[in-house]
Parts: sequence; C-alpha cells; structure tokens
Amino acid sequence: MLGDVDGESPAVKVRGLVKSYGRVQAVAGVDLDISHGEIFALLGPNGAGKTTTVEILEGYRRRDGGEVSVLGLDPGRQRRQLKGKIGIVLQKTGVDRYLTVAETVRMFASYYPRPRSPEEVIDLVGLTGKRGARVTTLSGGQLRRLDMAVALAGDPELLFLDEPTTGFDPSARREAWEVVKSLASLGKTVLLTTHYMDEAQYLADRVAVIADGRIVASGAPSTLGHRDHAEARIRYRVPDGTAPPEKLAGTAGGDGYREVRSADLVRDLNQLTGWALESGVALDGLEVVRPTLEDVYLRLTGESAAASERSTA
Ligand SMILES: Nc1ncnc2c1ncn2[C@@H]1O[C@H](COP(=O)(O)OP(=O)(O)OP(=O)(O)O)[C@@H](O)[C@H]1O
Ligand SMILES: [Mg+2]
Repeated sequence: MLGDVDGESPAVKVRGLVKSYGRVQAVAGVDLDISHGEIFALLGPNGAGKTTTVEILEGYRRRDGGEVSVLGLDPGRQRRQLKGKIGIVLQKTGVDRYLTVAETVRMFASYYPRPRSPEEVIDLVGLTGKRGARVTTLSGGQLRRLDMAVALAGDPELLFLDEPTTGFDPSARREAWEVVKSLASLGKTVLLTTHYMDEAQYLADRVAVIADGRIVASGAPSTLGHRDHAEARIRYRVPDGTAPPEKLAGTAGGDGYREVRSADLVRDLNQLTGWALESGVALDGLEVVRPTLEDVYLRLTGESAAASERSTA
C-alpha cells in the first residue's frame, strides 16, 4: 500500500500504471513521483496517454493495474474523499452556459467544505471585469480562465490542469502562467499537461515526456535528455570573402550564418573571437546555441515512434 505515512511522501505516487481501451493500450506502465508544492508537466504527442493518466489520478477513470496514491488516497477506491482535496481543469469544458461568472464560481464553491472566497478566485484568474457576464458571452480564453476558477473554488491542495492554455492568445497564456505560478506560491501542487514547450519550460519544476503510454524521459526542463551537456553550436556571420580559421569555419546556411559544433566552447570561442579581433572582422550575430527543450522533446518522441514501428514491423 502506498500511504502518506511520514508526511514526506510524495503528493502523487504512481507505480506500474496500465490502462487499455479494448485493444488500444493507452498507458503501458507509468511510474511517477510528484512532490508537494511541485509544478509537474506531462508532455507528449496526441494520443500518448496524458489525459488517461491524469483522469485515473483524478478518480475519473478506472485503471487496469498498478498502484496509485494521490494525497495519500487511492483514487480508484477513495474517490469521494479525494474529490474535496483536488481541483480539476478538464481538457474539454463543462460549465453551465447560462450562469454568470460569479454564479458559476459560487455554485462550485458551495460543493466544498472549506471553499476559497469566490470573489478572490475570480480576481486570481483575471476575470474581475467579467463577474456579471454570462458564460455564453465569454471568449475561448476567458472560458478557460473560468475553468481555472472552478478548479480553484474548493481551495484544493492539488490541481490537475489538462492543456490549460490551449487556444489562448499569447498574452492570455502569460497571464494564465502567472496564475499557475501564484498557485505554487500558495503551496499548491500542480500536475499539468501541455503541448507548449515554452509553457513547460517556464512553469514546471519537473517534466516527464510520455510516448505510447510510457515515460521516455523525466527531469528538470533545463536538464531533460542531458541537454545541458549536449554539444553546443557556435553561430556567426562574416562578410563575403573573409575566411575564418579552417577548424571554425563550419558550414554556411541559407541565412548566411556559419554554424560549427563545439566540444570545447571556451577554447573555440577564444580562437574565433581572437581571429576576428586580429583581422578586424565583425562577427555579426555571434551566438552559442544548445538544443532547446523542443529539440530534446522531438528527439525523444521521435525515437519512441521509431522503436514502436520497429517492434510492429
Ligand atoms: N474513451 C476512450 N475509448 C477508447 N479509446 C480511448 C479513449 N480515451 C482515449 N483513448 C485512446 O487512448 C490513447 C491515449 O489517449 P489520451 O487521451 O490519454 O491521449 P493524450 O496524450 O491526452 O492525447 P492529446 O494530446 O491528444 O490530448 C489514444 O490512442 C486514444 O485514442
Ligand atoms: Mg489529452
């Protein structure tokens, strides 16, 4: 039994989680540990098993096997107790379209024993000016904020956000990110899914990449897939007709930038900038590039797709 014995145990603990829909194995042995107060992001392509995993943790879907503990409870058996402690933003919205914003949040707050003040929740998600507006009149982004308000109404310890900012314009996304950050500063634990790498990078303390129902990598966004140790590339431009040192000349791309891989960044930069100073050449746009979270994500999910193609070939 995975219990909340010492108070130090994780907010979420999952071991060997499996779930199939008929012949489709949606979750194929997932292990997860999420600490209290952590923002954790699940990344993965369409159909990877993110929503299935999250809905099992919420108690909305039955698992076929494996052990799951959420705030010390088993969502399969103790759904009622769990319900009062968690907040949920589903991938699809489901609020009554004819209520106002304030009525909606008040209604959800009334379901909980110790709700957060509805007025405060509305402010927190940035719907202050829309308090009296009917749900039907809200924009897509405003609806998603209302979803967030509904999830917060019961003042939950743990929040599940399934693609919370899909369909948001860039400034609404930034604002939603601030809401999520402020939840973390209130000590809440957050499990979110997203397709946006910048969102994961900005919000998450840790991420896990899921592909074909399996976790293929996990860690801090800055170190995922060892990207902090990945080979750096130096990029720069020089005027036509100038020849940089052969070893650092690299190859010029269509944008006129030369790009050279560097296993010894300090030495190579020193040599390149030394040459530029001596020969009076401007190194326009000089930059050092490392694989982004998106590069690593594409590599990991690409490898997983190739492996499953091999195994079914
Ligand atoms: N109710 C269901 N009945 C049958 N198959 C389902 C059901 N729900 C999900 N699946 C299948 O399970 C797999 C995982 O789906 P899931 O919704 O968990 O993926 P996801 O990672 O959330 O994808 P997305 O990024 O598109 O939201 C997919 O192959 C999907 O078609
Ligand atoms: Mg999903």
